[in-house]
Amino acid sequence: METRLFRAALAVAVASLTTTAAVAQKSATEEFQKFRDVMEEDNPAELFEAKGEEYWKTKAGPKNASLEQCDLGLGPGVVKGAYVQMPRYFADTDQVMDAERRIVYCMVTLQGLKFEDIAKHPFSNEQGTPPQASVVTYVAGQSRNMKMAVPQTHPKERETYQIGKEIFGFRAGPYDFSCSTCHSADGRRIRMQDLPNLTKPEGAIKRFSAGPDTG
Ligand code: HEC
Repeated sequence: METRLFRAALAVAVASLTTTAAVAQKSATEEFQKFRDVMEEDNPAELFEAKGEEYWKTKAGPKNASLEQCDLGLGPGVVKGAYVQMPRYFADTDQVMDAERRIVYCMVTLQGLKFEDIAKHPFSNEQGTPPQASVVTYVAGQSRNMKMAVPQTHPKERETYQIGKEIFGFRAGPYDFSCSTCHSADGRRIRMQDLPNLTKPEGAIKRFSAGPDTG
């Protein structure tokens, strides 16, 4: 085949392939979005929210106490709006704690459970969902539709923010990736998965609010 013609044919072929791939990607993205919309409306996390509420209100542990007096930063027993104001500084521990850490702290101090025992089953796995994960879901649910308002007044809160920012940009691991390698541009994806741009509020909000913090 004459070179010019070959090149032209190749260009057409590549162009049509690209278009097909773009169409496939677009519909995959739309399908994922539909799935997310359904999850949003009819989220199985609500079951965990209900379980978490029950756990919060039921006496348990060696001290036979509920978590109702747990101070999530807004005073003992105040759950509404607490999640969007965490991680925050807690004077009683002189630490910045996120929701999960604080709930575990309350399970230890109020209910008399052992930290080491809770740490044996830190997150959902084949053994099931541990109580603290359901309680985080319940607590997060009590801040539904509220704006994130993580406090930055205490020096330790500002320090924690800076450390998080550094970790986000820190390259490590076998591929020498940082979080921002994958999460700092719009419209990026791996195979069919859209990668959220976590450096912009829109991307971060969508992801942050899609599930409780169980890490
Ligand atoms: C090699 C690329 C890569 C790196 C590096 C990476 N991620 Fe991701 N991340 C992904 C992919 C792929 C998804 C899934 C996107 C989806 O399902 O929509 C994802 C999803 C997420 C989500 C959304 C989870 C959800 O349930 O919607 C968050 C939050 C996130 N990553 C944070 C991070 C953080 C923090 C780091 C650094 C510690 C990091 N990622 C590093 C590829 C990466």
